[in-house]
Amino acid sequence: AQKGLKDYYKSYFPIGVAVSPRALQNPAEAALILQQFNSLTPENDMKMGPIHPEENRWNWGPADAVVDFAQAHKLKVRGHNLCWHEQTPKWLFKNADGSQVSKALLLKRLHDHIDMVVKRYKGKIYAWDVVNEAIADNPNEFLRDSDWYKICGEDFIAEAFRYAHAADPKAVLFYNDYNTERPEKMERIYKLLKKLKDANVPIDAVGLQGHWSLVEPTEQELRTTIERFGSLGLKVQVTELDVSVYPWEKDRRAKRPDESDAYTPEMQAKQAAQYKMFFKVFRDEKKYLTGVTFWNISDHYSWLDTYPVAGRKNHPLLFDENFKPKQAYEEVVKF
Ligand code: XIL
Repeated sequence: AQKGLKDYYKSYFPIGVAVSPRALQNPAEAALILQQFNSLTPENDMKMGPIHPEENRWNWGPADAVVDFAQAHKLKVRGHNLCWHEQTPKWLFKNADGSQVSKALLLKRLHDHIDMVVKRYKGKIYAWDVVNEAIADNPNEFLRDSDWYKICGEDFIAEAFRYAHAADPKAVLFYNDYNTERPEKMERIYKLLKKLKDANVPIDAVGLQGHWSLVEPTEQELRTTIERFGSLGLKVQVTELDVSVYPWEKDRRAKRPDESDAYTPEMQAKQAAQYKMFFKVFRDEKKYLTGVTFWNISDHYSWLDTYPVAGRKNHPLLFDENFKPKQAYEEVVKF
């Protein structure tokens, strides 16, 4: 069989990809996955909203489909995620009369949710993103002002890890976030992780989402981040890698007039150079780095086609719209 990313990186770390059940049913995408990757993350189907839309209703089908595919083909699975401020159902935070729940009830619901999901996939999911994106975007704030934080204060974070550990003591438990290499955010994440470690909370690792761009992060920022988190005794994975050809800006509401959909040879070359640099750093940091997962399979479909704005096509991955390896792919496997 033709060599894939997973084969080139066999002595380093697993190479994963975010998928939907629909992609697994498309023969071209399924073939590419099996040739290139040895780990899967469900892109949306294990998030609280999709999997647990009402207190007494569970929607297991799509999540099971991803896990079953992985089992059938001996792929690893990363669970994503157990506690987040987005794609979270409204019922969690409300009493029957519409008033806001107490901290005790919200933590009980968090417990029951985590216990159910983690136990269901025990032995089939080796790693969980337990808490996702709890740090605020504003550099002057520490934790994000989410419903979780408003109702529970900081405690929901440590509790989520304890619940997950109790449900599956063998699972590798992650804190996962974006813009982790920006120095001011890195420091705030470090502070949170250190607190958790000092309090003996069962956290094993940190996920750098890796939604990067043609200019971010720099090599030095990336190395510093991995080593600084590693120094806490945590493992590191890149959990949602893509390299947008547009600048990363969270609060964009519209396509800028100067943005065309052109994917120029210059952009392709710059992107290939970024990917080359990132994977060189990953190999160098093998001591801490235990996995790299791409967020989507190929430029045929990326969540960045519609985020943060619709109306422009992105090209953030290693395979093009026809599932063919790009220049960036060649740079990643040449070492
Ligand atoms: C994204 C999915 O890719 C989209 O399909 C969905 O509409 C929104 O969520 N950080 C995360 C991921 O942790 O769960 C997000 O996934 C991308 C940003």
